Amino acid sequence: MEDKRPSWSSRVSFILAAVGSAVGLGNIWRFPYIMGQNGGAIFLVVYLLLIITICFIPLFAELAVGKITKKECVGAYESINPKFKLLGIMNPVTGILISSFYFIVGGWIINYIGLSFSNLKMFNFGEYFTELTQNSIPACGLTLAFLLICIFFTARGVKKGIEFANNVLMPMFAVILLGLIAFSLSLPNSHLGLEYMFKPDFSKVNAHMFLAALGQALFTLSIGMGALLTYGSYIKDDKSITKSTYTIIFSDTLFALLAGIMIFPAIFSFGLEPNSGAGLVFVTLPHIFAQIPHGEIVSLAFFVLLLAAAVTSGISILEVPVASMTERMKISRTKACTILFFIIAAFAIPATLSFGILGDFKIFGKNIFDCLDFVTSNLLMPLNAFFLCIIAGWFLKIKGNSFINNKFVAFLFDIGLKFVVPIILLLLLYIGLRA
Ligand code: PHE
Repeated sequence: MEDKRPSWSSRVSFILAAVGSAVGLGNIWRFPYIMGQNGGAIFLVVYLLLIITICFIPLFAELAVGKITKKECVGAYESINPKFKLLGIMNPVTGILISSFYFIVGGWIINYIGLSFSNLKMFNFGEYFTELTQNSIPACGLTLAFLLICIFFTARGVKKGIEFANNVLMPMFAVILLGLIAFSLSLPNSHLGLEYMFKPDFSKVNAHMFLAALGQALFTLSIGMGALLTYGSYIKDDKSITKSTYTIIFSDTLFALLAGIMIFPAIFSFGLEPNSGAGLVFVTLPHIFAQIPHGEIVSLAFFVLLLAAAVTSGISILEVPVASMTERMKISRTKACTILFFIIAAFAIPATLSFGILGDFKIFGKNIFDCLDFVTSNLLMPLNAFFLCIIAGWFLKIKGNSFINNKFVAFLFDIGLKFVVPIILLLLLYIGLRA
């Protein structure tokens, strides 16, 4: 077993891992689209204000609870008050549920990496993608393959697994992203894509836009399932987390913007409609790759980039239950990872089949995949973030003046943590559940 309480080798390793957790599918297939749909540059301004003022607070609080208690989620909550144990358990449970749908997408990415080695012109990607998702056995195999990749790194431990993966994959991600941006901007009429993303549209400023921005920010910053709490618990005592919090927020936003600058110029250059999610990544973009010279290489680069982003996020999702299992049940990482593999597979396989043979099985009108997405993004993550703020503010009594020099800003932080952010999270929860 790894030494009792692992810690990061350096501040850079921690930041890379935390940014690796934050930068994932949320940045690439959701942020640019949400930005384009919700007023472009205006959305960006609102988003930046929201993350600096509001999201800073739960993000900082998660890292702080981990760093102060030096425990995984369940132990951390329990050490503050034994009554909070159940609230702590909700974090690894959320992690298991998120991985059950997130990893399915990871499987599709692996498939498209393989596909990039064939002649892309032969495919009609709309039909191809539907067939891929409906074809039960290969689809389940892909989901499990992605799960195994993430489990492999997690099982190797914090330094040899998590740090190693992030140290290799994050720089690779950044280099491929810059290369693809250069390519995308060199296409004819690429400015139309930038206009779609950035053109300010004041008519879109409304309550819906604020909530869209906030929901997106929580998911993309990995707030509300204990990933940052667990990563925070591996920080050595002397390291401040204020700067790290801003670095995570800044990098996550930067990568989301860069993802948009990579995607939209290409889409508009080909006169296609921008969309989000699976349709954008697995149908629209491959359609473009098939039409450009050396498209297979561009396709390979793009899906490797996506895999790097998804794996570093996936590892952080797994680390939450793995840390809880190793520390609470006193079992080795390998054993915890093996058990977790079967637990996640038990959820992920039915979710994968919900595109095929289990398609008619609906819970509240949603198939299993959509249901897992809905329950985690709209219910559990805001709820976990709410309890985290309450526990950090009212029980652990984290105070702004312990890390902010300016008295007024420290006061705003205290009010935010104890009142404003919890109320906003409840509002988000209320609206999210009516969706
Ligand atoms: N932030 C990741 C993304 O944008 C997803 C994630 C959520 C990772 C919660 C960890 C915890 O894709």
